[in-house]
Amino acid sequence: MTALCNLNGVIRPENESAIPVLDRGFLFGDSVYEVMRTRDSVPFAWQEHLDRLRVSAAGIAIEVELSDREIMSRVRETIAASGPGEKYLRIIITRGTGSAPNIDFSCAQGPQTTVILVRELPGYQGLQARLAVVPRLRTDRRALDPAIKSGNYLNNVLGLAEAKAAGATDCLFLNAEGRVTEASTSNFFLIRAGEVQTPPLSAGLLAGITRRMLFDCLGNSGQKPRECDLGQADVLAADEIFLSSTLRDIYPVVSVDGQEISGGTMGPRTSEISQLFAKYCRRKVEEIDGPEYRRITAPAE
Ligand code: PDD
Repeated sequence: MTALCNLNGVIRPENESAIPVLDRGFLFGDSVYEVMRTRDSVPFAWQEHLDRLRVSAAGIAIEVELSDREIMSRVRETIAASGPGEKYLRIIITRGTGSAPNIDFSCAQGPQTTVILVRELPGYQGLQARLAVVPRLRTDRRALDPAIKSGNYLNNVLGLAEAKAAGATDCLFLNAEGRVTEASTSNFFLIRAGEVQTPPLSAGLLAGITRRMLFDCLGNSGQKPRECDLGQADVLAADEIFLSSTLRDIYPVVSVDGQEISGGTMGPRTSEISQLFAKYCRRKVEEIDGPEYRRITAPAE
């Protein structure tokens, strides 16, 4: 399939689309974004992603100009133009092109720039993570709250690069208090003495949509994760560890700082949770996302 870009409503091949050099997303990371994926050709959990996009935007004083319906119509058109197959979708909203390369809001008259990238969904079957706890801390909530999915991902970019340089596949970030937060683009869970545990949002992390759906999905079977502060010692004492993200679903962590977790393989609870989650997603597509998506993107009568 062709990788496409919808830039302010105009669809072109991704490598032929360009934004002005004075766009504040380019200059300062002055933007917010969401990564979605399709399941059965439907942008999965699209309402949750659009809601979080607006929360992120509000967190950096942007009020998204387009309605959900307008965004989803552009998403649908771009998906349709890209041909068959499951898709990776990235929606980016920037504060727009400024009048000068100056951070001041007075140079940002708008309008906002809206980009929708549609690519083939990458396959992550059998993915296993080897984590390194990096010395770099997750950005402090008081500086730039990691709950805001802004275009400024340098903290994550550098954390991931440092983990890879240390021979791992991903980083595990601590906060300034030495508590576990998350990996570079995934949320963190561990299983200890039968209980699923995950750091609270107050530790400074993205309120992952997969994370939230896991609370719902596991809550239905009486295994709701417990939010609690976790230190490095808790991580190394875990029976199993897994990560969650939109693109990768649930995938196991098989080592942390070179120490094997769960015998260096996917543990039985992680495998069970991964199957429960797959079932949960199928049901959500059939009952909510699919019908609602068709309704909201149907051409106006
Ligand atoms: N990443 N933490 C961070 C820092 C993330 O960037 C992401 C998502 C997550 C998981 O959130 P969710 O379940 O809503 O995808 C946690 C996406 C996939 C990305 O930027 O590629």
